Amino acid sequence: MTVTPLATSPFHVPRVIAHRGACASAPENTLAAFRRAHELGARWVEFDVKLTADGRPVVFHDNTLDRTTDGSGPMADTPLAALGDLDAGKWFDPDFAGELVPTLEEVLDLLVEMDLGANMELKPCPGREAETAAVALDVARGLWPTEAPPLLMSSFSRVALDTARQIAPQWPRGLLVEALTDDWRAAAQEVEAWSIHCAQDPLGPAAVAEMLDAGYRVMVYTVNDPGRALNMWDWGVHAIFTDRPEVLLPLAGT
Ligand code: G3P
Ligand code: MG
Repeated sequence: MTVTPLATSPFHVPRVIAHRGACASAPENTLAAFRRAHELGARWVEFDVKLTADGRPVVFHDNTLDRTTDGSGPMADTPLAALGDLDAGKWFDPDFAGELVPTLEEVLDLLVEMDLGANMELKPCPGREAETAAVALDVARGLWPTEAPPLLMSSFSRVALDTARQIAPQWPRGLLVEALTDDWRAAAQEVEAWSIHCAQDPLGPAAVAEMLDAGYRVMVYTVNDPGRALNMWDWGVHAIFTDRPEVLLPLAGT
């Protein structure tokens, strides 16, 4: 077991993390969403990274462009230059027309400028797991200040996490799961995870206790309901990913 004991951990994760930026009040994974998270008082944000056709890391959630831009088709077939023609804001609200799909470099620069911490979710398009982790880690290590707390890496992809472990073993890793399966401990040990990031449904207090007893930080996505968040914190959950940091921050107590 290589989990860093919580008592000696050098990392501090706040109780509230703005999911895809403050994505209830600005278009997800855009610079506007990260600025909004900062304005609302969040100390950390979560964002998703995947690669364009020409292998550049961009901050984007879906495998296709259709839902959150005015373009269409797979991100994996779209070169970075073509993304510059797409609007990633007006689908959310006309006030955000002109927002672009940001590069990883642009997002990290902005976070450094605003002094925000972050969870970088490696969200590879199918078949690009190791490549996505390698490119994203390479860019992040070049830009992220060495004196700042490291980025927390996470992924549903064990290949991506294991690649991150090999490239930057000193940066913490979070294993993303939709539910705790029988093999969760083996998966967490394989990638030397520091935290487990679970979907809020069907998570209950027994599963949280199981992860805490094993020495992991526990983070839960995506919780927007204040009562649910209070329950989670009572169970010992360390951090909650929320689309509405302005709702949960006043309750978080830290
Ligand atoms: O990292 C937590 C959460 O973002 C995982 O799910 O689909 O919102 O990226 P998703
Ligand atoms: Mg995510």
